Amino acid sequence: MAFTIAIDGPAAAGKGTISKAIAAHFGFAHLDTGLLYRAVGARTLDGTDPIDAARALTAEDLAADSLRTPEVAQAASRVAVIGEVRAALVDFQRAFARRAGGAVLDGRDIGTVICPEAEAKLFVTASAEVRAERRYLELIGKGHDASREAVLADVKERDARDMERAEAPLKPAEDAVLIDTSELAIDAAVQAAIAAVEAQRA
Ligand code: CDP
Repeated sequence: MAFTIAIDGPAAAGKGTISKAIAAHFGFAHLDTGLLYRAVGARTLDGTDPIDAARALTAEDLAADSLRTPEVAQAASRVAVIGEVRAALVDFQRAFARRAGGAVLDGRDIGTVICPEAEAKLFVTASAEVRAERRYLELIGKGHDASREAVLADVKERDARDMERAEAPLKPAEDAVLIDTSELAIDAAVQAAIAAVEAQRA
């Protein structure tokens, strides 16, 4: 049986952690759609045309650890404004969403554009300062060089670009449940998300 859980929200809101936990809880597959845009963005850093890169994307391109840097995140949000790039990635995401056994997809436009018929939709957010602090600690923890100021600036710049673009702008679907994780520990955020999905399933 297909069952799609769409999880959207701004940069570093905790979508990844929540999505993985929800997928494990329900026994569903998980797709971090940000990785698709990050992989395309990464290719443009060596001069590849973004539309060509999106059309040639393979599953192996999504595995690289190097996709998690702020430089690649910026490149991702720059290619994400291009309609042809987004169009090239639609079929893969929709096929994943409808796979048998259930799927969790997280991104910016899952509940609005990719899967408007998703059985459950969440919009996960937190203040920019809280999100930047979490991302800063994550980057430092992985051994990257980062400063709090630069991470906050990256988060704010990408949010603005993601919300203001013409193609699939970041915004909550009308029927999404909003979860603000600014004052929630990971466990509490995951529990709130599971409860919201259960309520939409009923
Ligand atoms: O992990 P983080 O929230 O910082 O970013 P991400 O989810 O990996 O997404 C990186 C960038 O890809 C975002 O800033 C968006 O510009 C773009 N993106 C998008 O446009 N649509 C999606 N469904 C997912 C990501």
